[in-house]
Amino acid sequence: MASPRIVVVGSANVDLTTFVDTFPRPGETVFADRFDLGFGGKGANQAVAARLCGAEVEMVARVGDDLFGPATLEHLDSLGVGVTHVRSVANVSSGVAPIFVDPSGQNRILVVPGANGHLLPDDVNLAEPLIRRADVLVLQLEVPLETVYHAVGVARAHGVRCILNPAPGQPLDLSKVSAVDYFIPNETEAEAIAGRSVKTVADAEDCARGFVAEGFRTVVVTLGEQGAVMANAEAATRVSPFPVVAKDTTGAGDAFIGSLAVFLAEGAPEAEALARASLYAALSTTEIGTQKAFASRQTFEAEWTRRARG
Ligand code: RIB
Repeated sequence: MASPRIVVVGSANVDLTTFVDTFPRPGETVFADRFDLGFGGKGANQAVAARLCGAEVEMVARVGDDLFGPATLEHLDSLGVGVTHVRSVANVSSGVAPIFVDPSGQNRILVVPGANGHLLPDDVNLAEPLIRRADVLVLQLEVPLETVYHAVGVARAHGVRCILNPAPGQPLDLSKVSAVDYFIPNETEAEAIAGRSVKTVADAEDCARGFVAEGFRTVVVTLGEQGAVMANAEAATRVSPFPVVAKDTTGAGDAFIGSLAVFLAEGAPEAEALARASLYAALSTTEIGTQKAFASRQTFEAEWTRRARG
């Protein structure tokens, strides 16, 4: 079977992760346990997850003209992610994300978009020859919304399957994105977009049905260790979680999206593709960092065989 072709239009950041026991109060200084510097950004994370799962991946992104820009290009290239459409922006910093992870592995993330804010609809137009040949186009919201709206239109024009991960959560013109094939927020993103509380599986199901009523074909609300809920016009179903001991949950949602794009493009039945992506995401929380915590396809398959079938 030929490798699936995935195009990711989105962000690339450098993650500055501090592992903390307690957060300082205003005016207070506290010691933290550990620091980690790594490549991140929701778009790049999804691209790397898809690549590690065996896809041919191209990124459409922008980096700054600082130390992090060339390092990001070199890093993506070394993993085999296509960077022809990753360009540098003069006099702008790369995207950076100061991240704080507590002892339970839960994260809090600040994002400084930098060059990501300069990814424009014209960049999508330049990449149209790649997008029209893709099996899946993957989008998130760390780049300007006008770029995301435009990319959805390009995917639709060429009949390319499109996954939108509306992260970070923010008000969206749903009419400009409801043509995507999969709309996949986590609970906080679903709350921010729908303007309602999403804490439980039942909340997530109601919220997902609400998005379907607004015109989305398939909605998946991910709930971390509670798994996920999938809804379409016919039904709503639960995606069971895979228990793990989490060290750092940063990037787990991106691992879910990037791997799901590959499993769907390979032709896995939807329920199986979602279950597989759920395990791929869970595994990513067992190591620290974002992209560096993502499993190879071989490691994933061994674990899938052990857990899902065993
Ligand atoms: O989803 C995790 C990612 O969010 C991090 O890699 C960080 O860069 C922010 O984009």
